[in-house]
Amino acid sequence: MEFPDRARKERYFHSDFYQMEVEQLWPRVWQMACRLEEIPQPGDFAEYEIIDQSIVVVRTDDGSVTAFQNACRHRGVKVVEGRGTCENGFICPFHGWCYGPDGRNTFVTQSRAFSEHNLQPADLNLTPVRCEVWGGCAWINLDDDAPALRQCIEPFATILDAWKMESLRAEWWYACRLPVNWKLAQEAFMEQYHVIEAHPQLVIPERYSPRAGGEIDPRSLIDAEIHYLRTMSEGMAGMVHANDVEVAESLRDMELPADPSQAMSTWHRALNDAVVQWHRAEGSDIPDLNDLEARGLNEPMGYCFPHFFVLPMYSSASSYRFRPLGPEETMMEIWSLTRFPEGQERPKPTPPELWESDDPRWPPIPAQDFSNLPRQQKGLHAKGFEYMRLSERNEGGISNFERTIDGFLAGLPYEKLLPALEAINVNPLERPIVDLGF
Ligand code: FES
Ligand SMILES: [Fe+2]
Repeated sequence: MEFPDRARKERYFHSDFYQMEVEQLWPRVWQMACRLEEIPQPGDFAEYEIIDQSIVVVRTDDGSVTAFQNACRHRGVKVVEGRGTCENGFICPFHGWCYGPDGRNTFVTQSRAFSEHNLQPADLNLTPVRCEVWGGCAWINLDDDAPALRQCIEPFATILDAWKMESLRAEWWYACRLPVNWKLAQEAFMEQYHVIEAHPQLVIPERYSPRAGGEIDPRSLIDAEIHYLRTMSEGMAGMVHANDVEVAESLRDMELPADPSQAMSTWHRALNDAVVQWHRAEGSDIPDLNDLEARGLNEPMGYCFPHFFVLPMYSSASSYRFRPLGPEETMMEIWSLTRFPEGQERPKPTPPELWESDDPRWPPIPAQDFSNLPRQQKGLHAKGFEYMRLSERNEGGISNFERTIDGFLAGLPYEKLLPALEAINVNPLERPIVDLGF
């Protein structure tokens, strides 16, 4: 970008720009392909589609996870659609070629009718795709030369490991069709600058802020805090889990010091401890939240380039994934994640229907975010509009993200891209524009 604080509008709709992403970005990046609770048992599989590529992620007999390209080696038919469980492998519906759960070809119908050079065994297996497991998810990468997953998703991985992300489970899973570019959709969640205007119900009145000075009535501080937690919880149908709101309610009568900032920190420490205690008593695996706080790891948002977010709050989290369906169409998925007693059998999460962005079933907070996006995508096309002007202080995360994309589109080698990924795989909220080294 010519100026790091300006994003030209063509990035968000031009077919040439989109095509560059199709060729230079998506085939080179690690992508969260499915949550592991979608494929708990051997033989369970889930299809992951990105643009025109379909990848099958499978739980194999030894409990590990593997992936391959979803195209029969005979005449290219997709071997599976969606998700399910295979008994002993996959049978292509066209001519009946068979593959094991690991993608190995096990049968060619009337094989004698083929010439020998078309029946080379290694060449008949479904084409493997790199697949790694981290954080309760399976990740794929179509680039055989990319560094290992962990290297590409730091420091996101270390921070979310501290949150024990691997023991979060899906409570629900929704999907939205947004008539906007995938980057535009994602950027609505990369800054907090919009909260005052778009989510006025989330603005905590200034009188309860420690900055307001003077003494405050601890009762009204607790009222305001619980009100905020409840508004978040109901607004997201999760993130702040209803269980945690109830835990906060149980602390309503606690004593607090009169000094506002001491009152605030006493409240937060007590709530953290009470949430941890409640979940440990249930038998759930939860980190010590005050310890996370002390280590500076209590960020409200973890971002993992290019398209995955986790927003941890107390015991639980929301998680987002954005996938382009075209230059001006995006599928955004939202998972509500929480902790369940260890060892408890959970049903597989129900795969989402694709709801429109104005569907009345959306919880209030995403509904507010979605309402602006189609208007923004339309506005970008205005003849007189050339570029977005980004606030260096409030919207740096957007600039950092867009310039990392430029690094991929320029075909930079991984040794140049890794430091940029490390700089942006962090909480993008209130993040300044950073030097990416290119
Ligand atoms: S295309 Fe799969 S068996 Fe023919
Ligand atoms: Fe928002």
